[in-house]
Amino acid sequence: MWVFGYGSLIWKVDFPYEEKRIGYIKGFSRRFWQGSTDHRGVPGKPGRVVTLVEDPEGCVWGVAYKLPTGREQEVKRYLDYREKGGYQVITVTFHPRPPFSPPPSQTLLYIGSQDNPDYLGPAPLEEIANQIINSTGPSGQNTEYLFQLAEAVRTILPEDSDAHLFSLESLVKDTLTKQTKNSQNKEKNKTLS
Ligand code: BEZ
Repeated sequence: MWVFGYGSLIWKVDFPYEEKRIGYIKGFSRRFWQGSTDHRGVPGKPGRVVTLVEDPEGCVWGVAYKLPTGREQEVKRYLDYREKGGYQVITVTFHPRPPFSPPPSQTLLYIGSQDNPDYLGPAPLEEIANQIINSTGPSGQNTEYLFQLAEAVRTILPEDSDAHLFSLESLVKDTLTKQTKNSQNKEKNKTLS
């Protein structure tokens, strides 16, 4: 049994696996359109995490993990629990990274489709950035999730030029820098007056 990770499964590998392969799936794009009320937000104030949306032109790079032989169901149950916030499991075709690649194979994939209760859907990038800046949940700040994912994609999956992910990362970083400068200026003005 193989599981394809395109989000936190790329950088938060807290489960046993036998083998891992880098590669991609076709027909989807990664988007911060899933609400998180159990990890990076709370009920009534959800954070935003990634899901995949159907996109005939899309290609998403990620990491496929082979679950340990004989312990597949146990590890899958753990992942189902970890990713219980609105995600369902589907099967997709995984293409290993060329050139030393075995043929495409079937892997499981967690996806938050439009009909799940935590789905938030599209919004202007500024709105998504502000929601991420202002959200925290039991697993920590929503900004940490965004930054960890962007860094992991940049370093482990350089083929993935995910404009949505990297524009969001830049926007959040710029906004946080501006907010820090504004509060420093306010402090300075307070001491001068
Ligand atoms: C993943 O990293 O593949 C993943 C993304 C969303 C939910 C569960 C797993």
